[in-house]
Amino acid sequence: MRRLRLFFFLAIAALSPPMAAAQLRPDYYASVCPNLQSIVRESVRQSMGHSPVAAPATLRLFFHDCAVRGCDASILIINPDGDDEWRSPDDQTLKLQGFQTVMNAKEAVDSDPQCRNRVSCADILALAARDSVALSGGPDYQVELGRYDGRVSTRGSVVLPHSTFNLDQLNRFFSSLGLSQTDMIALSGAHTISAAACSFFQYRLSGGGDPAMDPALASRLQGSCPGPGAPGFALLDAATPVRFDNQYYRNLRRGWGILGSDQVLYADARSRGAVDRYAADERAFFDDFAAAMTRLGRVGVRTAADGEIRRDCRFLN
Ligand code: HEM
Repeated sequence: MRRLRLFFFLAIAALSPPMAAAQLRPDYYASVCPNLQSIVRESVRQSMGHSPVAAPATLRLFFHDCAVRGCDASILIINPDGDDEWRSPDDQTLKLQGFQTVMNAKEAVDSDPQCRNRVSCADILALAARDSVALSGGPDYQVELGRYDGRVSTRGSVVLPHSTFNLDQLNRFFSSLGLSQTDMIALSGAHTISAAACSFFQYRLSGGGDPAMDPALASRLQGSCPGPGAPGFALLDAATPVRFDNQYYRNLRRGWGILGSDQVLYADARSRGAVDRYAADERAFFDDFAAAMTRLGRVGVRTAADGEIRRDCRFLN
């Protein structure tokens, strides 16, 4: 009988999704590191002062971490044998400034004796991503905390959406993380800041071009990205490139989306309504973005049983 109970327990544990969101809460570090929020906020502010790329690079880093093995800071791990996430082709375009922003924040947290080695790198990354958004003019939402850092990072585990994806492919990817189409559309609004390299959208300019792209934009982009392999880039939201606002959705309505995966959100009738709504109502976008970031932050959370609080975010303890 006991063996039967054990069997059912193990079977249920094996079938449960890899989520342990229940232990996350905004005040997780209230007693061990009461000033955590202000320490990270100030550090991110300084990093942003040093580089305009710090905020977008940190926000993208959070997405790329959570989407692969969950929000466990596995993207920060450097494995001596070279087999780790950040060296995978899809992560090679992550900018150094994002990693630097998180390392700076970790150093600032650890310089408070109360907090030293008590806060996970995964939580510092989640806070730094939120601060990057808030300090760029976006929503200042509460971050759930209590993640442990993962102990595994491999190149082969990196599967991320591509800028050539259509709506079905985007939905399939985000639903594999437990996120909805609405979450995906709201999170794509992160492309209201920074830029993309020509290689990600050049194919939309060649041949007959992409009918979903405004022809005036297409001819401008041809100037900066004249052919395959061109080294240039384009601002993802040329109107307000460093401001986190709903301009991204207004752009999509005019055919000004840079990535195919951006413009498809307006080109496909099934997602156009949400784009129209966010274009008209920035508050609705901010609320949905904050909710979607919170849900993204719950993906694959590690606990003390299968994680650790890394002393150096780059190496296992
Ligand atoms: C929907 C699927 C997505 C695709 C296909 C996609 C693809 C891309 C690509 C190709 C770039 C340009 C990278 C480069 O030129 O180096 C980019 C940049 C960026 N992405 Fe995404 N992305 C997606 C979703 C997201 C999400 C969910 C977030 C965050 C919540 C995000 C945040 C960013 C940011 C902030 C940048 C600018 C990064 C920088 O300048 O360092 N993206 N994305």
